Amino acid sequence: MSAPHNDHTPCFRRLGPADADSMYRLEACCFSLPWSAAQCRAAFAQQAFMAFGLLREEELVAYISFYHIGDEVEILNLAVLPTERRSGHGRRILQLVLQAAAKMGIQNVLLEVRTGNLPAVALYESCGFRRLGVRSRYYPDTNEDALIYGYNIPASI
Ligand SMILES: CC(C)(COP(=O)(O)OP(=O)(O)OC[C@H]1O[C@@H](n2cnc3c(N)ncnc32)[C@H](O)[C@@H]1OP(=O)(O)O)[C@@H](O)C(=O)NCCC(=O)NCCS
Repeated sequence: MSAPHNDHTPCFRRLGPADADSMYRLEACCFSLPWSAAQCRAAFAQQAFMAFGLLREEELVAYISFYHIGDEVEILNLAVLPTERRSGHGRRILQLVLQAAAKMGIQNVLLEVRTGNLPAVALYESCGFRRLGVRSRYYPDTNEDALIYGYNIPASI
């Protein structure tokens, strides 16, 4: 699966085990509780796990990972290199994955996000995600609540 791109637009492709170290490096510079390198490698061994990236000359600019079980997807992580933010990469990779999920017959998408993560909340809400609930004191490093968001994929998007 790929999307049209020019010299400056990162290329969209599915990630595999060979991308685990790049995924780890992006995790480490984006999250307060990043996945370890071992967790990134182990994830690709799980049948339900899938990840897609935006890459420029094989540098991972953005990535999104999720579990796909039946007609549901649970987004695990979405990250954009700090130096590449506010350029539309987050919205682009999320929309490309929602389009791919629609083609795979997936109907529901779920995710959790920290209450204080205003950029991510704004991105999800602007892409049509709806707030479904709250998990109290979910994140152990800050005791922050998790907001649960859901999205019902229309037949064609
Ligand atoms: C959240 C994140 C993925 C957004 O990626 P991005 O490439 O910067 O986002 P985009 O440029 O595609 O912006 C899309 C929309 O998101 C919202 N947004 C993104 N960054 C924002 C910010 N700093 N403040 C407010 N809104 C923001 C806006 O609604 C924006 O639309 P607009 O540009 O028309 O205003 C990025 O900030 C990131 O990697 N954060 C760290 C990791 C993380 O928290 N991931 C989410 C885990 S649930």
